Amino acid sequence: MDLGLTGRRAVVTGGSKGIGLAVAAELAQEGAAVSICARNPDEVAAAAVQLRAHGGTVHEQVVDVTDTGQVSAYIESAAAALGGVDILVNNAGAAHPGTFETLTDDDWHGDLDVKLFSQIRCTRAALPHLRKSAAARVININAIYARYPDPAFFATTVNRAACLNLNKALALEYGPEGILVNSVNIGFVVTPQWENIRSKRAPELTPEAFFASWAAAEVPLGRFGDVEEVSGIVAFLAGDRGSYITGASIDVAGGMGKYV
Ligand SMILES: NC(=O)c1ccc[n+]([C@@H]2O[C@H](COP(=O)([O-])OP(=O)(O)OC[C@H]3O[C@@H](n4cnc5c(N)ncnc54)[C@H](OP(=O)(O)O)[C@@H]3O)[C@@H](O)[C@H]2O)c1
Repeated sequence: MDLGLTGRRAVVTGGSKGIGLAVAAELAQEGAAVSICARNPDEVAAAAVQLRAHGGTVHEQVVDVTDTGQVSAYIESAAAALGGVDILVNNAGAAHPGTFETLTDDDWHGDLDVKLFSQIRCTRAALPHLRKSAAARVININAIYARYPDPAFFATTVNRAACLNLNKALALEYGPEGILVNSVNIGFVVTPQWENIRSKRAPELTPEAFFASWAAAEVPLGRFGDVEEVSGIVAFLAGDRGSYITGASIDVAGGMGKYV
């Protein structure tokens, strides 16, 4: 299937590892020019080397998506390096476990900043470039906890619900301009984020044993997903085959989430 991504220009936030790196790699393999950003300079540089192996244009920058000035400067330099922006993948984010009584105001603000406000900032900065694109896409990486509350991830649950509403409202607002906005909602996917959670919660367990116990309790398919199982649907939405899909909220979660 030709996704029609050759020559498209994609910005992937949090593209240094995990889901973001897999998405950037998949888009690069499909012929898109890609730009990635994240905070850790060594990981950003290493990811860019990996992406350049696909042969296309790669731009990278050290950016904290919680800083409006850095985000604006980044989107401008990415657009200059790639020659425009057709695709924005709002992926940067971090797990923030915590119950209602353990989360402080600072925790809540921090989580909201890296999840909801990063999507707002990046989309706002990219909008002038997306308006010039003939095939503009915004793809927001969210969590199924937005629709399936888990009090153990209290802030994620509440803040991702706001992200889903942002996704739908943006799709309504910019559909008439041909800018398609969709959400991909993750359940459990093996990434460095989960390794951090395991090392804090159950350092005595191997990653395999830790992931297996969580999956057995929550996931009908009985396992965590792989990053490539996310990047495939993102590439589909980014490309021409996704041209009549906007405002959608698609779970990539192995059946996790008891709702219709
Ligand atoms: N994996 C899952 O099971 C799962 C489940 C639900 C939702 N998600 C969401 O999916 C997205 C990707 O998660 P992942 O599992 O791939 O996580 P990951 O392996 O920890 O990667 C997160 C990426 O985001 C970057 N990032 C984090 N905070 C940032 C900031 N303030 N500014 C710029 N970049 C930042 C990280 O780099 P730096 O730390 O160097 O900045 C890294 O590149 C996140 O939004 C996450 O919340 C994942």
